[in-house]
Amino acid sequence: MSIITKILIMIFSQQKEVLFSSKDLYQLLKVEQEDIIKILTEKELEQQSINGEVYIKKDDFENFINELWLSLGISYQYYEIPEHLKNCTSPWAVTLVKMYQDKFTCPDSISPEQGDFLRALVCNVAPKNILEIGCFTGVSTIWLAAGLKQIGSQGTVHSVDLFNDIIPLLPHHRGYLTNPLEYAQKSVDAAQLSHQVKFYKKNSKEVGEKIHEFLSEPIDFLFIDGDHTVEGCFNDFMLFYPHVSVGGYIVLHDINPKYCGWDDPRYIIDKFIKKSPHFDLLEIRTNPVNYGMAVIRKLAEDRTLLLRSQLTNVGI
Ligand SMILES: C[S@@+](CC[C@H](N)C(=O)[O-])C[C@H]1O[C@@H](n2cnc3c(N)ncnc32)[C@H](O)[C@@H]1O
Repeated sequence: MSIITKILIMIFSQQKEVLFSSKDLYQLLKVEQEDIIKILTEKELEQQSINGEVYIKKDDFENFINELWLSLGISYQYYEIPEHLKNCTSPWAVTLVKMYQDKFTCPDSISPEQGDFLRALVCNVAPKNILEIGCFTGVSTIWLAAGLKQIGSQGTVHSVDLFNDIIPLLPHHRGYLTNPLEYAQKSVDAAQLSHQVKFYKKNSKEVGEKIHEFLSEPIDFLFIDGDHTVEGCFNDFMLFYPHVSVGGYIVLHDINPKYCGWDDPRYIIDKFIKKSPHFDLLEIRTNPVNYGMAVIRKLAEDRTLLLRSQLTNVGI
């Protein structure tokens, strides 16, 4: 059993008392065990010693991570908030500014510049049904829903995520958050957008395979920012693309492997989108880091692709 699985089981099974042993932390964080023990003992965070092994309570985990990052010279990253967002008094903007101050937001959530772009895109193409794969803590969800609100649309953002607890794992996850679904729901409520957002704590594969159980109308705007393995992203594209209406949009996040470290959306763009006459493609650079986004318009059904997506166990 992997350490992450073990941790998730511990969290979900409410084993709140003892959470990590220093050995678990070593495996999870890939930091020398003696550095871990030093922090646990020096900061008086260790709770129990069983058979010579030091354990730490779940409640102390965040303190421990703060101390560990400090000792390793690793700092939390935050996106710079543009003045216009800071000065905007709409509840969604106020909520986003607050979310951008949380430790786990950067770099996993989209930046304010990318969010602004998504919101403006929604305002212009006016989709009714938006489907988002990869909500994380709800930053992109709020940007998308803010676009709907701005144009007075009754549309909905359907946001799918596994909503697993966020555990600090470098290089991406720095902060720690249990129950991201609750956090996302509270944020959407604070943003006064609850009527435009529906969350699904599901694997995107399950939603894609039984889409009619979840959506009664076609998707007009699909935002893919979920499983970033080549296979995961490819499967998401193949499962959901047939349900995007002709004329609808598909936005892929993280299209520049050089900057984001993921190969998946690039694979889809180069292997399928660019080769098909049935898509319009616009690749845009993004700030503050050029992870990049692709805006794809579905011009017609691509029968070859459709056939492929209908095969069971879509493989690469
Ligand atoms: C980069 S984060 C999304 C960030 C978010 N779009 C934002 O900008 O605020 C990727 C998310 O995809 C989710 N994810 C990964 N694989 C998934 C799957 N198979 N089904 C559903 N969600 C998945 C992860 O749980 C994670 O929250």
